Amino acid sequence: MEAAHHHKLSNRPWRSSAHSLLGLLFVVVILSLASFSDAETHYHEFVIQATPVKRLCRTHSTITVNGQFPGPTLEVRDGDSLVIKAINQARYNITLHWHGVRQLRNPWADGPVYVTQCPIQPGATYTYRFTIQNQEGTLWWHAHSQWLRATVYGALIIYPRLGKPYPFPMPKREFPVLLGEWWDRNPMDVLKLALFTGAAPNVSDAYTINGQPGDLYRCSSKETTVFPVGAGETILLRIINAALEQELFFSVANHMLTVVAADAAYTKPFTTNVIMISPGQTTNVLLTANQAPGRYYMAARAYQTAQNAAFDNTTTTAILQYKSAPCGGKKGQPASTPILPSLPAFNDTATATAFTAQFRSPWKVKVPLQVDENLFFTVGLGLINCSRPSPRCQGPNGTRFTTSINNVSFVLPRANSLMQAYYQNMPGVFTTDFPPSPPIKFDYTGNVSRGLWQPVKATKLYKLKYGSQVQIVMQDTSIVTTEDHPMHLHGYQFAVVGMGFGNFDARRDTPKFNLVDPPMRNTIGTPPGGWVAIRFVADNPGVWLMHCHLDSHLIWGLAMSFLVENGVGELQTVQPPPLDLPRC
Ligand code: C2O
Repeated sequence: MEAAHHHKLSNRPWRSSAHSLLGLLFVVVILSLASFSDAETHYHEFVIQATPVKRLCRTHSTITVNGQFPGPTLEVRDGDSLVIKAINQARYNITLHWHGVRQLRNPWADGPVYVTQCPIQPGATYTYRFTIQNQEGTLWWHAHSQWLRATVYGALIIYPRLGKPYPFPMPKREFPVLLGEWWDRNPMDVLKLALFTGAAPNVSDAYTINGQPGDLYRCSSKETTVFPVGAGETILLRIINAALEQELFFSVANHMLTVVAADAAYTKPFTTNVIMISPGQTTNVLLTANQAPGRYYMAARAYQTAQNAAFDNTTTTAILQYKSAPCGGKKGQPASTPILPSLPAFNDTATATAFTAQFRSPWKVKVPLQVDENLFFTVGLGLINCSRPSPRCQGPNGTRFTTSINNVSFVLPRANSLMQAYYQNMPGVFTTDFPPSPPIKFDYTGNVSRGLWQPVKATKLYKLKYGSQVQIVMQDTSIVTTEDHPMHLHGYQFAVVGMGFGNFDARRDTPKFNLVDPPMRNTIGTPPGGWVAIRFVADNPGVWLMHCHLDSHLIWGLAMSFLVENGVGELQTVQPPPLDLPRC
């Protein structure tokens, strides 16, 4: 697939013939152009449309961008701008989100439906305009309404500014590795059914690598994704977990992986044979093809932390194929079957935790040392009681599933987006009394009394002064079940300063925080039955959603929003909205 073409450009040997003064001048002009005008604007049209897509022996009318599944890979450099005209030719309302892009002062391009914009209705268009500012690495984009992101997603690759190298040896090739989740039915109907019954949504039928389930599924072998590699080469895999509902383990048979970046931030390199990646996260790994030339499976399957919950326990594969590999047999003999990597047990929290604990920034990072806003959020499931048996109460013991943060189950407005309501001073759409700590303290990871299982529904925001230094401890609860919740904050990159199991204890745990070289991320999981602590400076004004990136949890209300106020002057103030911002 695509290599980092600009690196090839910058490596081009310049011909320097002594007699050609003109040639030398030309070189000087080109070089100075390169250093002064390296920022580009990339224009794209994203046509959202129903497309026939055949997987697992059946053809579905799948919502795609430009007929591609997964969607187009965007390749830019730090400093570049993107102008993406979204044209909705599908029958669903939709929005697009650029996951991990900071969108400084520009919430209008962020995309979560009813948070920063109203949906793009069928037949309508909206142009997302934004600039990548001081970010490099792997991000991605996806639909951010209902369950459309099941098929509407793609990679967003940010190369360093022209002439700036990676902080590791230049890989010979690069590949996006998009891990997805496939339902053998319309994902929008899966969601609709779950919202009707109150039960958990049906689990998926396959995981995919770059849109393909791979050899272990019916009718899939012909299209299995293949990654070609030359013997001895080092390649960069940009792994993205685009699955809706599942943390995943990922491994490549016989090959070690060196993690060098995550969520568009570099990490201190470390080597592992398996990674765990949560929905929303990206992980860049280097792989050196130092094994006997041949074909090796890369594989992903579930890391499942919720107890007594159904999950998709299938395994997706792609093939790492050495170019010098004997290409299968002579005449009609099938190529030898690649070796499968061994993956951890589905519930192997020890491996997942040990992996996540290794992340460090490669250098000292700016972490707020003083905290102005000390927030403690309980996150987890809940159950809504029903007064009588009903087809709408098919959750555990005749209830409906719900989720919450600090006992508030987040409800999206319907008549306007939060950002528009805020900008237009429109009353009655939201309140700003989101609780900074749980209204009732309890043993969060112990045996929680049934009286605390049912949250309240509300649209509450938490106000942050511009520039305030924020700490959030996110505490998983054992209500219904403990679980790893991949928490994603829009508009920010935060430092992950600590995590642990059990109940957070400020006096015991705070002194152990890493305030020197914590990893910078946009999505981090609460360990099941544990907590994770993050810090950031509220330097991006606007309304920013924070939520669990498991889509059923998001739909049930495991979300809240920050309202970051403007600071002083234009550079600390939200830009005016674009004229084509969809109206509700
Ligand atoms: Cu990847 Cu709110 O999203």
